[in-house]
Amino acid sequence: LVIVVDFGAQYGQLIARRVRDLQVYSEIVPCDVSADEVRAMAPSAIILSGGPASVYAEDAPSIDPEIFELGIPVLGFCYGQQIMAVTLGGTVGHTEAGEYGAATLRRCDSGASALYGETLTEQTVWMSHRDAVAEVPEGFVVTASTDVCPVASMECAERRLYATQFHPEVRHTACGDELLQNFLFGICGLEPTWKMDSIIDDAVEAIRAQVGDARVILGLSGGVDSSVVAALCAKAIGKQLTCVFVNHGLLRKNEPEEVEAVFTKQFDVDFVHVHAEDRYAALLADVTEPEEKRRIIGSQFWEEFFTVAQDLAEGGRPVKFLAQGTIYPDIIESGARKTGGKASTIKSHHNLIPFPEGVHFDLIEPLDHFFKDEVRALGTALGLPDHIVHRQPFPGPGLAIRIIGTVTRDKLHVLKEADAIVREELDAYNIGVNEAVGERGGELVRTTPGGPEVERPVWQYFAVLPDIKSVGVMGDERTYGYPIILRAVESSDAMTADWAKLPYEVLGRISGRIVSEVPGVNRVAYDITSKPPATIEWE
Ligand code: XMP
Repeated sequence: LVIVVDFGAQYGQLIARRVRDLQVYSEIVPCDVSADEVRAMAPSAIILSGGPASVYAEDAPSIDPEIFELGIPVLGFCYGQQIMAVTLGGTVGHTEAGEYGAATLRRCDSGASALYGETLTEQTVWMSHRDAVAEVPEGFVVTASTDVCPVASMECAERRLYATQFHPEVRHTACGDELLQNFLFGICGLEPTWKMDSIIDDAVEAIRAQVGDARVILGLSGGVDSSVVAALCAKAIGKQLTCVFVNHGLLRKNEPEEVEAVFTKQFDVDFVHVHAEDRYAALLADVTEPEEKRRIIGSQFWEEFFTVAQDLAEGGRPVKFLAQGTIYPDIIESGARKTGGKASTIKSHHNLIPFPEGVHFDLIEPLDHFFKDEVRALGTALGLPDHIVHRQPFPGPGLAIRIIGTVTRDKLHVLKEADAIVREELDAYNIGVNEAVGERGGELVRTTPGGPEVERPVWQYFAVLPDIKSVGVMGDERTYGYPIILRAVESSDAMTADWAKLPYEVLGRISGRIVSEVPGVNRVAYDITSKPPATIEWE
């Protein structure tokens, strides 16, 4: 076990994650952890994260000085280096300009530092600081510097205490992984033995211990996160888990059937398929305002969900726990912070659940310390099919916010059919791109020789049905039908996005297929707007 002492939420998890990538199990602990608590956890190494505070600020987080006396190797980054320095008798001061972004690091350890090992004498590292260590504590030596920062790293090899001002955990630090490897495998003598199977075993154990013989309920949306939690719980407690799939009729073509097949055939859980299509259709009948659609769809979900929980209770199977697919970025986004060990729950998420009067469930959130790609890897290891594990982002309110204006059964049918064609064609396009990129050893390819566009898989793609009709001609007949808008974007986090520069043949094929295969559609338009100023969705 490697513990990461967290001095600022967004830093610690990334470090824990890098350590797990190197196949060493790692967990976050809050920075007020005591030396006794650390001793009880018996970690093989301790990493001190960065953090936003200044060490001399009044409410700056500190660290129990005894932790440095436990004989456990410690590696500090950024704030972690500064706190190590001041705790052990060194000093920290302001650098004049601060240092943000890439910096050139020069080793001055004459090749002796086990942390740097074989890495280059000069290397690019990622800095983000205003304060820096001015005087190192007694027994420490400076091992590297930059133009701005004289103590870019320091160590006391005898006591196995190491620290860097830069951030080895970010990808921009060229030798970041190597430094971590040198620390974990060289200095601490750890072995890279921890694998995805171990995560599954640990999570399964933890769920069993928390749940005992109680009943757990889970809302299954068909998305990655809820599906992975369902699969984990299925493995841990089988039929003690009730998966509630509320079918609002707004999922894409074939999705409800696919979800049901996975969780009834592959996993042995209590699966409840709530056919709420008619109730949703009635509620949405006259609604055109997007936020109103979202509100109705969201609140009806909880109505349906709690009805199932109540039915279970009345049938003698009361529910004690609610399992949720909260992942680590959700916690960051909601501004909440973990305050304790593994089982602690996140308050802001509690608040999102509109528990009816007198109803309360305890939460199980087994994914709350994982990033999305780790969750996907877990899903694959648990045997979930690719169409779930690699499902693209899909809004909770589903197709209702891709139909502009009122949502009717006819429009839903048109959109589902058109969207299925978009997905089929662009899934195939993405497979082709991935193969081409793979063949070139991961290098991106230019779509036109000399042109600026690089070929990359499209991130999110779908069809939108606007609330207009236009004139067309088919055979000798005049038509008056719907247009379909194709939306296909490149993005990494949905915060910003650019329209995908798809080859004309692909666009042509999608257009040709939609107008000939989907009755009622006579035109296809391609949305070539980035976000901002547009958004990815149309509502
Ligand atoms: P926008 O349209 O804001 O979308 O650029 C950014 C990302 O969020 C998804 N999205 C939603 N997801 N409920 C969700 O769960 C919603 O109401 C919602 N609206 C947008 C969208 O698909 C894109 O990936």
